Amino acid sequence: MAKKKTIFDFYEMKKRGEKVAWMTAYDAPTAACAEAAGMDMLLVGDSLGMCVCGLPGTVPVTMEMCLHHTRAVRRGAPNTFVIGDMPFLSYQTSAADAVLNAGRFLKEADADAIKLEGGVRVADKIKAITDAGIVVFGHIGLTPQSSGQLGGFKAQGRTLETARLVLQDALAVQNAGAHALLVEAVAPEVTAIIHERLTIPVYGIGAGLPCDGQLLIVSDLLGVFEAFTPKFVKKYANLADEMKRAFAEYIKDVRSGAFPGPEHVYNMLPGEVERLGDL
Ligand code: KIV
Repeated sequence: MAKKKTIFDFYEMKKRGEKVAWMTAYDAPTAACAEAAGMDMLLVGDSLGMCVCGLPGTVPVTMEMCLHHTRAVRRGAPNTFVIGDMPFLSYQTSAADAVLNAGRFLKEADADAIKLEGGVRVADKIKAITDAGIVVFGHIGLTPQSSGQLGGFKAQGRTLETARLVLQDALAVQNAGAHALLVEAVAPEVTAIIHERLTIPVYGIGAGLPCDGQLLIVSDLLGVFEAFTPKFVKKYANLADEMKRAFAEYIKDVRSGAFPGPEHVYNMLPGEVERLGDL
């Protein structure tokens, strides 16, 4: 069994130019498969709102939902670095709220780190959480919790003016003490500059190759989530089709009586059938 990685392993991997592969997970069996496959780390994203709960976005997701799923992932992957995702309004309100809620991921769900969205405007929250001794992953570019202000789920940094804002956010996250940065849906030309200027690991989701590793949402990676598929997603399976095929076959078998077969039942013990007359 591989040893659980720490943030120092991720620093070392960056130094060696070794890419980190991570994905989201929301439940124990998926987390266990990811650990068995050698995934470097797991994010219990607030994307669980859409991917698991059928919500229209991440804004309604609560601390309790995030903690519940983080605990499940930790049980499934006890030897993998797990990051809890801070949901909307769990950190924006004050530095004290940010520290208390970040701490809950460690105390109540055994997470190794937390992630929060935003750059310049949440720098004081990042500083407060890191000052409390907690490993923080920043998240900039397309930040779904504030997608209303961004005009929807849109790529960021495609003009010089917006690229400058993304870079300012990246520097603010690092200067506030964060241990790693996730860049989402940002032009790769800008990702390359961020990667060059920052000393902490820089990871991407939809931000191209020039960074220290890649994150994908598990429901996209497996082809389970069908509502929409961003351009940056590569599907490694099409489980939605496979699930529909299996469900349809099961329905057919139930209706025709082909299931359950003799191999799926618990017969009475030898000699007991003869005694049924006494029942
Ligand atoms: O919640 C999540 O899965 C995320 C990713 C979109 C980066 O924050």
